[in-house]
Amino acid sequence: MKFFIDTADIDEIRDLAATGLVDGVTTNPSLVAKTGRDFFEVLSDICSIVPGPVSAEVAATDTETMLAEGRALAKVADNIAVKVPLTPDGLKACKTLADEGTQVNVTLCFSAPQALLAAKAGATFVSPFVGRLDDIGQDGMGLIGEICEIFQAQPEITTEVLVASIRHPIHVTDSAKMGAEVATVPPKVLRQMFQHPLTDKGLDAFLNDWAKTGQSILKAKAAE
Ligand code: E4P
Repeated sequence: MKFFIDTADIDEIRDLAATGLVDGVTTNPSLVAKTGRDFFEVLSDICSIVPGPVSAEVAATDTETMLAEGRALAKVADNIAVKVPLTPDGLKACKTLADEGTQVNVTLCFSAPQALLAAKAGATFVSPFVGRLDDIGQDGMGLIGEICEIFQAQPEITTEVLVASIRHPIHVTDSAKMGAEVATVPPKVLRQMFQHPLTDKGLDAFLNDWAKTGQSILKAKAAE
């Protein structure tokens, strides 16, 4: 499974990309607004740090302007994936951009029929939003399961399921079980994925016991 990080914060991206475990980045207008920075500058900074797909969302709602914006965004770097909303205009723009060879991420997907349409429009990724469905009392992970099942039953579909609006690590592991190709995770959730109290406890015990031996691996090696 690929891990993308869902943020436009350069410090966070730099820090987490240094782990070597980040395959891409997703941004959205709200995340860009939070930075207070120029969109194009933020994007080129991100693209210089992460070689994988970097999603950049259009702000227009009509196909023609979405296409103009999408083409401008795609020029920032080869790894830009233009993000369009799951609307009739957005899917028209998706089809044209995909035909031009641009990666497209269709965002704001909340149902299986919407996901099928995104696939038909040639999307590279479709982004179903798990947490926002959970927030209104609907089954976010149920939707991921449904989309994965449908895509697996339709071998001609090459669109990847990019699970979005993730709130905690269980959303990630459940998505992996269902066969989703990508999870875009907020930095906080990616950090939570590293953690287990027994890892910390076990490491403390090993370090204490090692200290009692009075040995140093590097000094022993250097003395050889
Ligand atoms: C995905 O690309 C979106 O940026 C994101 O996952 C939205 O998540 P939210 O519901 O936490 O805003």
